[in-house]
Amino acid sequence: MLFDTHAHLDDRAFDADRKELISGLDMLVMNPGCSLASSRNADALSRQYPHIYAAVGSHPDAADEVNEDVLEEYRKLCKLNPKIKAIGEIGLDYHYEDIPREIQLQAFRAQMALAQELDLPVIVHEREAHADGMAVVDEFPAVKGVFHCYSGSLEMAKELIKRGWYIGFTGVLTFKNAKKAVEVAANIPLDRLVLETDCPYMAPEPFRGKRNDPGKLCRMAEKLAEIRGLPVEEVARITTENGKRLYRI
Ligand code: NI
Repeated sequence: MLFDTHAHLDDRAFDADRKELISGLDMLVMNPGCSLASSRNADALSRQYPHIYAAVGSHPDAADEVNEDVLEEYRKLCKLNPKIKAIGEIGLDYHYEDIPREIQLQAFRAQMALAQELDLPVIVHEREAHADGMAVVDEFPAVKGVFHCYSGSLEMAKELIKRGWYIGFTGVLTFKNAKKAVEVAANIPLDRLVLETDCPYMAPEPFRGKRNDPGKLCRMAEKLAEIRGLPVEEVARITTENGKRLYRI
């Protein structure tokens, strides 16, 4: 069985067929929130479907909504629903910088502190912000989690693993120009690696550019099996165990 450790099934891209799609999935799925509104939707999906788990948090794109009231809402959701297994997705994105860096950093730190308080793992989105991302990780040594859709170097991945973190890979692994992600996936300990679709984005080959969904995670498992020289069933078993350990399921 596979575990999609990062899927946005609450996204409007699934409005037309969400129920059929989710009901047809024979796998585990973690649905992180991107904002307070999306976290509430993730919470609702996890209550509705036994195989869906949720995380709550504000993505760097929504960092400007984070304040004491929003953090209190996340705290309440976590206490009321045992299927909320993480704080996320949170982090830093310096690619577009629609939200100023200082505000992103403030929101990231506030939500890392919340994860520490609630003793939950975190789901980190970090794009073109490697140094600041690692600096915040080091400010909260008690907090562990996953760097999802990993885009850093092998050296940085090793530093994260040393600190007890996991590394998440998307359909990028299957892209022809994915040398860096493939290098990291080939060289880190297998017990720290998790697979994710990040759907509706990041569809693997041969679906690149189309809507992604958790049913396409098998393409990532096949690619990882090829990279590591292992049977695909073994990769599925190990990465699912890793996801359960990461989110304490
Ligand atoms: Ni995401």
